[in-house]
Amino acid sequence: MRLVIHDVPVKKSLFTIFFVILFFIINFNFDTLDHKCFKYSSPQKLENPGKVVLVTGAVGFIGMHLSIKLKELGFVVIGYDNINSYYSTDLKQRRLDQLKEKNIVFVKGDICDESLLKSTIKSHNVDRIIHLAAQAGVRYSLTNPHEYISNNIDCFVSILEVFHHMELKKNGPLIYASSSSVYGLSKEIPFSESSEVNNFASLYAATKRANENIASTYHHLYKIPSVALRFFTVYGPWGRPDMAAYIFTNQIEKDLPIQLNNYGNCERDFTYIDDIVNGIVASFRFSTDGTEIFNLGGNRPVKLNYFVELIEKGLGKTAKKVLVGMQKGDVPITYANIDKAGCMLAWKPKISIEKGMEKFIEWFRLENGTRYINATKSELLK
Ligand SMILES: NC(=O)c1ccc[n+]([C@@H]2O[C@H](COP(=O)([O-])OP(=O)(O)OC[C@H]3O[C@@H](n4cnc5c(N)ncnc54)[C@H](O)[C@@H]3O)[C@@H](O)[C@H]2O)c1
Repeated sequence: MRLVIHDVPVKKSLFTIFFVILFFIINFNFDTLDHKCFKYSSPQKLENPGKVVLVTGAVGFIGMHLSIKLKELGFVVIGYDNINSYYSTDLKQRRLDQLKEKNIVFVKGDICDESLLKSTIKSHNVDRIIHLAAQAGVRYSLTNPHEYISNNIDCFVSILEVFHHMELKKNGPLIYASSSSVYGLSKEIPFSESSEVNNFASLYAATKRANENIASTYHHLYKIPSVALRFFTVYGPWGRPDMAAYIFTNQIEKDLPIQLNNYGNCERDFTYIDDIVNGIVASFRFSTDGTEIFNLGGNRPVKLNYFVELIEKGLGKTAKKVLVGMQKGDVPITYANIDKAGCMLAWKPKISIEKGMEKFIEWFRLENGTRYINATKSELLK
């Protein structure tokens, strides 16, 4: 029998075959192989990620959470921090108590002190370093520029020198904290690691980008492998008191006004602490002989107005908003393209801003509850 193309049933079955093939092509490309990953080299896991890890900035917000996670995963963690007074040393002390509860070894010291770093590495048989210690904060860099040059650049070179001379490169790359702030006023949104970054809005951002350049230079000179992690606005329990989540929650809880820059229209790609910690652990297990940069961000920017609404809901209070224009050092939006971390580290953020802020507020009330009772007005204003 001859096939007649204008025969309606035959046409119908050709259409069906066409759509079935199309369906398979789409699924094959987009789900099975994930088209986004073609441009990245295939993920490589370190056979042996090391046993003893030095975490600098260990009583900082991210450092405390990371140290506890690594310990739970069975690593020996050596926490290192100078417990500086950029913000409440009481809070840092309480974080240190958390580390001690988990039997995490702690060394109080400065990352610029190369001889203490070396003796710590030697006496504890450290084989990997995750470097988080830095002078953080964008606004503070307007008034204290030298803190940034010394802690973030000079001391970063100390870390690289020690890493080099203690021959740690054989165990895996140096992992260190960079920042989303390096994207500055970039117009290419969402921000991707391959974008040019040279439009900084703050000295803090410039020092973080300088770290990436210095790390590349050490790779060129001594083949030091490294992984830079560009964190996007990290928040969660034990968070920093100089950041929006803490400041707004604190002010609203005390019925004090909050200042919303850019009239509340700035957007931030908030990232929950547990997601960040999982990203650091994934990069710690990642193998490279070169230098890599990864964005670790929530991949869902929200307007500050919405962020404040979440806090109002969580506290059951109404914010007294003071709307102001853009401030020096500020950027209108941060938004992470996280394809690279997804493809090469198999990392994806899991906690929504709604859930994350619930957890933060729960911690905030527990942490500060007892201190609010009987506090004087001037204490509350602190
Ligand atoms: N939290 C965020 O949203 C965020 C975003 C982007 C990048 N980062 C980067 O991640 C890292 C950790 O950030 P964090 O939020 O935990 O900050 P943090 O300020 O809570 O922690 C940093 C810790 O480093 C310590 N430190 C600073 N200078 C030191 C020095 N010279 N010697 C020894 N210790 C020193 C401080 O005492 C502090 O405990 C920093 O490098 C920061 O720039 C953080």
